[in-house]
Amino acid sequence: MKRRLLLIFSWVWILVAGEAIAEKAESVERVLVFGASGRIGQHIVEEGLRRGYAITGVSRFAERLSDFAGRINIETGDVLDRDRVRELIVAHDAIIVSIGGAPQNKNPETYIAALAAASLIDVLQEMGEDGPRLIFVGNLFTLIYQEGETLLDMGRVDESHQNYAMFYGHQIALDLFRASKGVNWTVATPPNGLRLQGFTGNVRFGGDELLRDPDGAPAQISREDFAFAVYEELAAGRYVRQRFNTAR
Ligand SMILES: NC(=O)c1ccc[n+]([C@@H]2O[C@H](COP(=O)([O-])OP(=O)(O)OC[C@H]3O[C@@H](n4cnc5c(N)ncnc54)[C@H](OP(=O)(O)O)[C@@H]3O)[C@@H](O)[C@H]2O)c1
Repeated sequence: MKRRLLLIFSWVWILVAGEAIAEKAESVERVLVFGASGRIGQHIVEEGLRRGYAITGVSRFAERLSDFAGRINIETGDVLDRDRVRELIVAHDAIIVSIGGAPQNKNPETYIAALAAASLIDVLQEMGEDGPRLIFVGNLFTLIYQEGETLLDMGRVDESHQNYAMFYGHQIALDLFRASKGVNWTVATPPNGLRLQGFTGNVRFGGDELLRDPDGAPAQISREDFAFAVYEELAAGRYVRQRFNTAR
């Protein structure tokens, strides 16, 4: 009897929580995109427009977004400037962050992904449950590669690697999100090097474990399909406070 009640209670909870997330997703109209000038970010802007969202693109240098003039709202801003982030977030229902760049030094704690995660968490934690949903683009080196270990756990990246700070910086970002309280974060990770081209709208999703092709090779995706998958998740809300990876 007790078990049956517990089961009924769990199902009711799942239905209620699921509905709340779906309702929030339905109410998303205005999307703020940090990194709109980037290789992935440009496709995130285009896919958002294709879906009819009102997009605000953010760059530290507005002229980098001039190709979008007339189609999106263009704002300047640095993701590390907490006051500016707070100001920009307020008018939006969801935030997609696709920021990156070459590491400036060997210290992962100073890599932009780690610093950006800390900045966004500070602002969103202040906003609490009313804060908008955040989807943050992560890195494949933080995915479970084999036998429960990431490529970082497996020691595949040492300090001499040119992207050492980038890969470990993304791990710090993911750890910060996981430790955050009251932030509706999702980290979206490509499973490999985004080597495919073009749009298909045909994607699959996995959690922390790297998606693979039937032959066992790490799966692939294009930037266009990655952007498509990010919005599919924004609408579905299946990975709130989790990380997913996505491939064709
Ligand atoms: N397989 C994988 O796992 C994989 C593959 C590719 C990329 N990624 C990840 O995806 C993300 C985006 O990659 P990408 O290739 O599209 O990057 P990208 O072309 O180098 O673009 C970087 C973007 O970051 C923005 N940015 C940098 N610092 C910023 C700051 N302080 N404030 C606001 N914006 C800032 C830049 O905007 P402005 O310069 O205009 O301000 C630019 O739009 C990175 O985190 C990267 O590690 C993962």
